[in-house]
Amino acid sequence: MKVTEQIKEPIYNEMEIFEQKFSKSMSSKVALLNRITHFIVNRKGKQMRPMFTFLSAKLLGNGKVSERTYRGASVIELIHTATLVHDDVVDDSNQRRGFFSINALWKNKIAVLVGDYLLSKGLLLCIHNEDFDLLKIISVAVQEMSEGELLQIEKARNLDITEDIYFEIIRQKTATLLSACCAMGAQSVSQDKNSIEKMRYFGELIGMAFQIKDDLFDYGETKIGKPTGIDIKEQKMTLPLIYSLNNVSPKKRKWLIHSVKKYNMDKQRVKEVIQTVKEAGGLDYAQKRMESFQKEALEILLTFPKNSYRDSLELMVNYVIKRKQ
Ligand code: IPE
Ligand code: IPE
Ligand code: MG
Ligand code: MG
Repeated sequence: MKVTEQIKEPIYNEMEIFEQKFSKSMSSKVALLNRITHFIVNRKGKQMRPMFTFLSAKLLGNGKVSERTYRGASVIELIHTATLVHDDVVDDSNQRRGFFSINALWKNKIAVLVGDYLLSKGLLLCIHNEDFDLLKIISVAVQEMSEGELLQIEKARNLDITEDIYFEIIRQKTATLLSACCAMGAQSVSQDKNSIEKMRYFGELIGMAFQIKDDLFDYGETKIGKPTGIDIKEQKMTLPLIYSLNNVSPKKRKWLIHSVKKYNMDKQRVKEVIQTVKEAGGLDYAQKRMESFQKEALEILLTFPKNSYRDSLELMVNYVIKRKQ
């Protein structure tokens, strides 16, 4: 059995029901919108966020989930999808989930509006059901994601980013939403503040590891369903590059900065930058930092009683690190 199937085994039914609810949550009277949301539903991603939500709920709810768990999962996947649609406009990326991105097919104008539509659908799903606690978690996550993306752009302009700022950026733009998955799942079935907080923090650690992995993919050549090598093109400074800048000779450092600043569109030069980062140990260093987040996350999991949900979460933590896309 594939590891993803193994992970899903204890939440198989919930994921099936979720997919129907998720698809319904996007419907609109506008034909163009429906065409695009159908396209989105047919090109689904790894669905890691709903998986984390259901597994966290079952872990704390003695194997049970509630209607609120389903809504939480749908809201998060709606928001996640909205941010990806916008992110591909921001990053000028033409590929997503192994196919053309929304902006590549329908242009930026439509992609921006579709992203806004999905975001509002997510917020309304909370409001219609008076899930104000969920609304609060999700609004904070949306605020942090926008701030994280903007902080990233600000730093890309000046190329003056430290490791601490990088970790703050990825905490905001990625980890907050993953921590919301786990916290919402837990909160939808339990009132135990201590356990909910533990799950929130667990999600944050996973989110950090998850984004470091995503940033490592950008330095690789494997096909992951979206473009690689575009971070440098967008002058996005991620951990492998930051580490390298701080650990090469002043001359190399100057060359690196100059390359990212002035030659970020030059394919050959970007290849040389990637090679330099590899030689400086930037990828190994990022891998190590990712593994330390993984380790801390696993330690939190072990404080919960062992059962099939905890086992699946453990597999998921390792999948975040080992995944091929
Ligand atoms: C991509 O998330 C955006 C990041 C936070 C790196 P995923 O890799 O979970 O995207 P899908 O949903 O599987 O396409
Ligand atoms: C993550 O940033 C996207 C969001 C959190 C919105 P990236 O720009 O690195 O994500 P990918 O690589 O395009 O999926
Ligand atoms: Mg992107
Ligand atoms: Mg990326």
